Amino acid sequence: MGFSKLTLVLLTLCLISTLTAAATFNCSAPTTSSNCRALVDYVTPNATTYNSVKTLFNITHLRDLLGANNLNLSTRFDSPVPALQTLRIPFKCLCANGTGVSNRRPQYIVKPGDGLDHIATEVFSRLVTYQEIARVNGIPDPNNILVGQVLWIPLPCSCDDVDGEKVVHYGHVVAAGSSVQAIADEYGTTQETLLRINGIADPKKLQAGQVLDVPLKACTSSVSNESLDYPLLVPNNTFVFTASNCVKCQCSSANNFTLQCEPSNLNSTMWSTCPSMQCQDSNQLYIGNTTSSSICNQTTCAYSGYTNQTILTKLVAQSTCSTPTNASNMGLPGSSWNLLFVSIHLALLCLYFLR
Ligand SMILES: *[C@@H]1O[C@H](CO)[C@@H](O)[C@H](O)[C@H]1NC(C)=O
Ligand SMILES: *[C@@H]1O[C@H](CO)[C@@H](O)[C@H](O)[C@H]1NC(C)=O
Ligand SMILES: *[C@@H]1O[C@H](CO)[C@@H](O)[C@H](O)[C@H]1NC(C)=O
Ligand SMILES: *[C@@H]1O[C@H](CO)[C@@H](O)[C@H](O)[C@H]1NC(C)=O
Ligand SMILES: *[C@@H]1O[C@H](CO)[C@@H](O)[C@H](O)[C@H]1NC(C)=O
Ligand SMILES: *[C@@H]1O[C@H](CO)[C@@H](O)[C@H](O)[C@H]1NC(C)=O
Ligand SMILES: *[C@@H]1O[C@H](CO)[C@@H](O)[C@H](O)[C@H]1NC(C)=O
Ligand SMILES: *[C@@H]1O[C@H](CO)[C@@H](O)[C@H](O)[C@H]1NC(C)=O
Ligand SMILES: *[C@@H]1O[C@H](CO)[C@@H](O)[C@H](O)[C@H]1NC(C)=O
Ligand SMILES: *[C@@H]1O[C@H](CO)[C@@H](O)[C@H](O)[C@H]1NC(C)=O
Ligand SMILES: *[C@@H]1O[C@H](CO)[C@@H](O)[C@H](O)[C@H]1NC(C)=O
Ligand SMILES: *[C@@H]1O[C@H](CO)[C@@H](O)[C@H](O)[C@H]1NC(C)=O
Repeated sequence: MGFSKLTLVLLTLCLISTLTAAATFNCSAPTTSSNCRALVDYVTPNATTYNSVKTLFNITHLRDLLGANNLNLSTRFDSPVPALQTLRIPFKCLCANGTGVSNRRPQYIVKPGDGLDHIATEVFSRLVTYQEIARVNGIPDPNNILVGQVLWIPLPCSCDDVDGEKVVHYGHVVAAGSSVQAIADEYGTTQETLLRINGIADPKKLQAGQVLDVPLKACTSSVSNESLDYPLLVPNNTFVFTASNCVKCQCSSANNFTLQCEPSNLNSTMWSTCPSMQCQDSNQLYIGNTTSSSICNQTTCAYSGYTNQTILTKLVAQSTCSTPTNASNMGLPGSSWNLLFVSIHLALLCLYFLR
């Protein structure tokens, strides 16, 4: 009697912890504008390799995994990934019935000794619940799965705009000791936005291991709405390959969140050789090239999308030195700043020796 009560308590605790860990994200974007890019954290339970992670999550190319994590492209398939490392997994998201889930990927083949709960909590580190796996795969009895059976693992995601902006939704696994405000600061959003889209009333209720929907700011780009990859949303600190692998685009805060694209030098998946990437109104500039046409004026040949025939380009003029001019006109003249700077250092030095 006592034993079965204990089992019941343990089972309930187990159920509560799985329920609180995994999440479903609201997604009301129409199916036409879904199938968007999304990211989710995967905390490696054991030491592994990039190739094993790529295979587990059904990622087509290693470079897609490297791009999502801003890792060096010369990273090898068999390079080790230590246990408890957090990797961002790129995938395609589909919205249906108000929630977003990965688009019928990754597929997992049931191995001898696997249970649905083991697959959910250990293999996929609680990114999903066994109930969700059972539901999308139409499994009536979660205790009854067959070795060799192919299961689709529904990772949480969304394609919705946030505060009127197109973003990339990132399922962030909350680290121990983190806070909603700290996560908002790190990913350039606000605590209010995070609480609202995650339906959290009290920020103190945040739990380590919880999967939080974090909207990532994507770089502005020149990609036209007629392009096959429109809208090309590349979030901060990641890179992607597009235009049938011919173009590599990178987003970083260092470039003021303007997408930086260049020829990838990879073989195309659609063309025998990549089409010309030369800007039309310029006979010297290729995608990614910049010239200074005059002082304070730069011209960049930007990537602006692709069709099944060609790669589109656009010349983008940019004014480069308005900011420094403004700064030097403000406040103290340069020499006074220097004096202040030296004085502060002298004061600090004094304090140091007086301790
Ligand atoms: C995804 O996994 C399934 C089942 O293991 C496999 O047949 C398929 O080739 C994989 N696709 C990719 C892109 O890895
Ligand atoms: C990438 O790794 C290679 C070899 O490990 C190294 O030579 C190269 O400098 C690295 N590139 C960057 C950008 O870190
Ligand atoms: C959405 O709901 C409909 C009706 O309940 C169902 O047939 C369909 O399979 C659901 N789609 C998903 C992806 O769950
Ligand atoms: C991690 O390693 C432990 C011990 O070797 C093993 O029992 C467990 O199944 C492994 N987990 C995964 C997800 O492979
Ligand atoms: C962009 O990424 C950099 C490098 O990881 C990070 O320091 C910065 O906080 C990020 N900014 C935003 C707005 O996400
Ligand atoms: C998600 O959608 C449901 C149904 O539309 C709604 O009741 C709920 O408040 C939404 N949750 C969040 C966090 O927006
Ligand atoms: C595409 O953008 C152009 C202007 O850049 C606009 O006039 C047109 O309506 C847009 N088309 C669609 C389908 O959004
Ligand atoms: C950064 O981009 C914003 C908008 O895209 C623009 O207003 C601002 O002038 C840019 N700053 C610099 C230093 O280029
Ligand atoms: C592209 O294909 C050629 C052969 O068609 C091959 O020799 C070359 O290694 C490939 N390059 C890349 C980057 O895959
Ligand atoms: C223009 O871009 C191409 C391809 O990235 C590069 O090989 C070339 O050196 C660049 N030219 C200039 C002038 O920057
Ligand atoms: C910068 O150069 C571009 C292209 O040469 C030109 O269209 C634009 O008017 C110039 N802007 C300024 C501020 O000189
Ligand atoms: C390219 O797309 C157009 C329609 O957008 C289609 O008519 C044409 O057959 C396609 N061409 C190729 C080579 O696929």
